[in-house]
Amino acid sequence: KATRIAIIPGDGIGKEVMEEAIKVLGYIEEYDSTLQIEVKIFPWSSDYYLKHGQMMPDDALETLAQYNAILFGAIGDARVPDDVTVWELIMPIRKQFQQYVNFRPIKSLPGISSPLANGGDIDFVIFRENAEGEYSNSGGRIYNNQPQEMTIQNTVMTRIGIEKIVRAACDYAHKNHKTKITSSTKSNAIIHSMKFWDEHTKKTLAKTSPKLQLESIYIDALVAYFVERPQDFEVVVASNLFGDILSDLGSAIVGGLGLSPSANINPEREYPSMFEPVHGSAPDIAGKGIANPIAQIWSLALLFGHIGRPDVEELIVTAIEKVLREGIVKTADIGGRATTKEMGNAICEAIVAM
Ligand code: NAI
Ligand code: MG
Repeated sequence: KATRIAIIPGDGIGKEVMEEAIKVLGYIEEYDSTLQIEVKIFPWSSDYYLKHGQMMPDDALETLAQYNAILFGAIGDARVPDDVTVWELIMPIRKQFQQYVNFRPIKSLPGISSPLANGGDIDFVIFRENAEGEYSNSGGRIYNNQPQEMTIQNTVMTRIGIEKIVRAACDYAHKNHKTKITSSTKSNAIIHSMKFWDEHTKKTLAKTSPKLQLESIYIDALVAYFVERPQDFEVVVASNLFGDILSDLGSAIVGGLGLSPSANINPEREYPSMFEPVHGSAPDIAGKGIANPIAQIWSLALLFGHIGRPDVEELIVTAIEKVLREGIVKTADIGGRATTKEMGNAICEAIVAM
């Protein structure tokens, strides 16, 4: 039975880097003829919004539910407010399909120098809670345009939500022979939600993985440690907001957004998971054909790992590493002059050569 992949390129460089990922997919099918893949491309984006008044059709989630996985590019366009693009496209997919794990590997790559003087041999992963937390639409504002104008934005944390993300991090730690979980917190100042986070993180670990060491670090200190001693981390677990910030920082210390993939996972596999680069639509370079496609192609690799083909994941990652190690073809963000297409082609050639 064919594996069905839904592809949403989105806006800006999302469309450009997705073309390269689709090219890689073609080569993968040639590499392994037993692999049956059925792909459909959905044009849901800001352009779609400007035409139809919504980011995606009413039955979009029902349509996506029929796929095994979703490969997503990026969205964001100056003509549509950012909260509309995010809340009408990415958020509904993450929430509907209970993709409560946002998994982001942070790994030093050959041929890529870190902006940190001590930036070698970094290798950890971030498990960001992806379904609740600070990114809620609960709250509001009153007294608009009056002196007493005010707003409240609520954080929603549930015991089950925390247990699930911590359990997913522990499962990963066991499977990958890791010994330590680092939890990011701010329970000294955010005394309701973050104390609750600490309490249930600790309880979950004690119950499911008593052998794993748990360290809990305040987010403000943790960002400094990411810079000062990034080699000390193995598995970092974080709330939605903290995980978002930590993963962009993590991405920066190993070479930047152009290289960083992510996975929005529903571990129970009741629904499709979604794979996307950490970066956005990069309006500053969109249309120039110079975006780095590696984050997108690596996200495709994570997709294969998730659908039970770790061999294909390894093949793609090895090809990326080979091209970077040779250092001949590099896009501008990593110090070269190659175009998006040239970078994509180099990775395809590396796959063919293996
Ligand atoms: P961004 O990630 O789009 O860009 C930040 C910087 O990194 C820019 O200088 C950009 O040129 C560079 N960059 C990003 N990806 C690159 C790549 N593959 N190759 C080379 N350089 C790359 O973040 P920004 O500027 O904060 O947001 C731009 C738009 O993207 C906004 O509309 C925002 O809402 C949206 N966005 C969407 C996301 C998504 O689709 N999941 C995630 C983050 C932002
Ligand atoms: Mg982010």
